[in-house]
Amino acid sequence: MKKIVFRDHDDLYRHAADLFAQQADLAIQRAGRFVVLLSGGETPLPLYRRLTQDPWRSQIDWKNVFVGWSDERCVPLTHEASNFRTANETLLSHVPIPDDHVFRIDGEGDPALEALAYETQLQTVLGQESGADLALLGLGTDGHTASLFPANPALQEDEHWFVPVHIPEMAQPWRITATLPMLNRSRKVVFLVTGQEKTYALARIRNGMMLPASLVRPQNGNAVWLVDQASSSQSEKNP
Ligand code: 6PG
Repeated sequence: MKKIVFRDHDDLYRHAADLFAQQADLAIQRAGRFVVLLSGGETPLPLYRRLTQDPWRSQIDWKNVFVGWSDERCVPLTHEASNFRTANETLLSHVPIPDDHVFRIDGEGDPALEALAYETQLQTVLGQESGADLALLGLGTDGHTASLFPANPALQEDEHWFVPVHIPEMAQPWRITATLPMLNRSRKVVFLVTGQEKTYALARIRNGMMLPASLVRPQNGNAVWLVDQASSSQSEKNP
């Protein structure tokens, strides 16, 4: 588990923006396009905002960037919980990505049908075998990532790229998530973790517990955890 601990959020998000720009440049040089799966939740939003500013905005060849999501809540795209809405407001509406390069997970349709339709859409860009060039992921306090929650059957999926999940205890119980085979085909995975409330989950992962986030291990081993001191501090008493 390659982990980099940052003293402050400015350093963390600057490093994350540099990584994003570097991966974009490498992918576009290699294949003429950069495919990134954005994460939902709050943690990545400062990164998205930073990417709309220089130097990153002018460094990235946005016309060759393709954007998908690692998961989406099954809500309308205007809903406050929509991962599309938050990424659109903080990043996509501020940079010159062609509209047809943005692959939104349709949260309004039938979750099972949309999961199938979405993986077919991404396969037109990626082909049947390869994965995203970069997958951005967060960490839930229970160790979930994307919408792969502990003990959820979606963790067992070994064929499909995206599946519907039902988590009755969540405010938005239906979601569509990338599966472990999909995430583990990514060329690079970057986890962004901040806040004291993530300390326990991060410590359990570091201690080898098999939580969903610890099962994300790209085949080429290229995963890095960018964490702040608050989420990485050992001093916090585990609940
Ligand atoms: C989602 C995310 C989810 C998120 C974690 C952390 O759609 O909610 O995919 O996995 O990354 O729950 O959320 P925060 O960044 O808001 O703490």
